[in-house]
Amino acid sequence: MIIDFVTLFPESVLAGIRHSILARAEADGAVTFRGWNPRDYATDAHRTVDDKPFGGGPGMVMKPDIVWQAVSAAMEPAEEGAQVLVFEPWGERFDQSKAQELSTAAQLVMVCGHYEGLDARIAERAGARVISMGDFVLTGGELPAMMVADAIVRLLPGVLGCAGSLEIDSHSGGLLSAPQYTRPWEFGGLTPPEVLRSGDHAAVERWKRQQSLQLTRKNRPDLFAMAHLESSDLDLLN
Ligand SMILES: C[S@@+](CC[C@H](N)C(=O)[O-])C[C@H]1O[C@@H](n2cnc3c(N)ncnc32)[C@H](O)[C@@H]1O
Repeated sequence: MIIDFVTLFPESVLAGIRHSILARAEADGAVTFRGWNPRDYATDAHRTVDDKPFGGGPGMVMKPDIVWQAVSAAMEPAEEGAQVLVFEPWGERFDQSKAQELSTAAQLVMVCGHYEGLDARIAERAGARVISMGDFVLTGGELPAMMVADAIVRLLPGVLGCAGSLEIDSHSGGLLSAPQYTRPWEFGGLTPPEVLRSGDHAAVERWKRQQSLQLTRKNRPDLFAMAHLESSDLDLLN
């Protein structure tokens, strides 16, 4: 997979993404990260990338002609099935199922807005998916793009040393995952639930399921309402 970041700060984004598991994924050839700076395509003396919004209003909007050149450069040539993602707070909410869906693309071009955002014609012309990270406003699309890239790359085959991790992740099966503990057994006067050292695997699995169910019901009633529950789950919840 190729992941292109179209951003005014490609050095920061590439430095931020090239760590640990994601750096190893790139070294192993599972993914290639590239950065494209719209400012490199600005032709005036100030290398201007933004302008006042049509219709008035505060702030500046990123110019479509300049950003488009950076997007086009990233897609020259485009991989088959390349997909452009644009980040805006008004987009569709990103979640694990979207990460799964996007992880099959051969190329993702991630366009990061700044200032008051991107001219809407960039997304329109590119047939882009407009992605929001949630109901809050950041100063730029760089952190969203890095989060989405991280969520996607860890799903690529062979990237996680332990593929089983994906199965127990929160959101992979519609429920949040159970709390986890490691050594030492006693920490600050706190100990994990006794069942975790019982050696009784069935009891451990039951405890994990119960924790998942309770945590999801408490913290994410929206997910809990949609979860597919077994009749045995009802016993665990009582
Ligand atoms: C200050 S924001 C622009 C906000 C825009 N005026 C609005 O109200 O929808 C600048 C850039 O940050 C990024 N951004 C901010 N919040 C975001 C969010 N919740 N999800 C995705 N991107 C976001 C986008 O790339 C956006 O173009």
